[in-house]
Amino acid sequence: MIKKIDKFLKKDTVPSPCLVVDLEIVVENFQILSSLLPETQIYYAIKANPARAILQKLWPLKSRFDAASIYEIRECLSVGVDPMSIAFGNTIKKRQAIREAYLSGVRLFAIDSSNEVEKISKAAPGSSIYCRFQTNCFGADWPLSNKFGVQPSEVLEILRYAKSLGLAPVGLSFHVGSQQRNNIRWDEAIAQAARLFKLAQTNGINLEILNIGGGFTSNYRGRIPSIQDTCEGINKSVRRHFGHSSPQLIAEPGRYIVGDAGIIETEVISVSTKANDLRRWIYIDIGKFGGLIETLGEAIRYRIDAPYNDGPSGPVILAGPTCDDMDVLYQSAIYELPLSIVEGDRLRIYSAGAYTASYSAVNFNGFPPLSEYYI
Ligand SMILES: Cc1ncc(COP(=O)(O)O)c(C=O)c1O
Repeated sequence: MIKKIDKFLKKDTVPSPCLVVDLEIVVENFQILSSLLPETQIYYAIKANPARAILQKLWPLKSRFDAASIYEIRECLSVGVDPMSIAFGNTIKKRQAIREAYLSGVRLFAIDSSNEVEKISKAAPGSSIYCRFQTNCFGADWPLSNKFGVQPSEVLEILRYAKSLGLAPVGLSFHVGSQQRNNIRWDEAIAQAARLFKLAQTNGINLEILNIGGGFTSNYRGRIPSIQDTCEGINKSVRRHFGHSSPQLIAEPGRYIVGDAGIIETEVISVSTKANDLRRWIYIDIGKFGGLIETLGEAIRYRIDAPYNDGPSGPVILAGPTCDDMDVLYQSAIYELPLSIVEGDRLRIYSAGAYTASYSAVNFNGFPPLSEYYI
């Protein structure tokens, strides 16, 4: 299906840089995940790519939505999503945002602190909450267990507090880290969740929902587990740790749904060398501020090639177009590109449908946000 994007990009009217997303691949990925996790409700993590075209494709497929902000909730509602199919999944929320979500009909909120519990009890009385706990993210290219989540030992107390304020503590959530390459992380987290479900039950709180978050992989460089193996592992872990009393499962995939569906095409602005490094510096018209912020620390390593060039290749340092010294994409990781590359040539960045366009700066150095096409 990449052929569809290829055909689109070969039209010479497409400006660079641009992201092209094949919506058929988005649909296919959603369907694959739904079939591999048949007992799990899929809440698409809008933050991965909030394009209206994607929300409009997923909603008729019975996707639900994990929203990070009131703005994402508004966007969902504007395309006709039922507010009962939205989880306000960010544990950090303004009181006014909680109130607006509640007045719009949203009733499911994530929490990881007593302050959030208090705010929700006032602004969204009687709502359902799930508590995010911290879990080991080792193996993830983009870890998510520093800023979010309580320690497992704090969960019971916070659930009790929510109950005492009239909220319905319905479940727990975790996130094993985005682009998680090690399936064992889900098993560890599910085992922990099962222990916490038991503890809650023996203290009079019957939890019903386990939100297993995201973490499902896209095809960047390096080995990834197959989606089949990851999902089979999750299903087995739930059976093993919960036995017959399996909770209602929720997953919040973002990257897996849209990552492989997108390609960025970028133009080479300049090729040069410096006396202290034999590698060529290749400056392209997209960098950290144009949508590739996940190259921070070279964490996400995209597959990049030069489909219009051939011949022998050599090592390169890849950098973005802005006047910022940190706008270097890859300097430690080994990237090679054809020696024939010159100014004006185009490169392709694959699996770029997630966490790119929505990250691109509005006006840094005067550059406009990344152009997007949904085909
Ligand atoms: C709460 C929550 N759910 C889901 C996701 C999506 O994760 P992924 O893109 O790894 O599927 C994220 C990512 O930041 C998140 O913070």
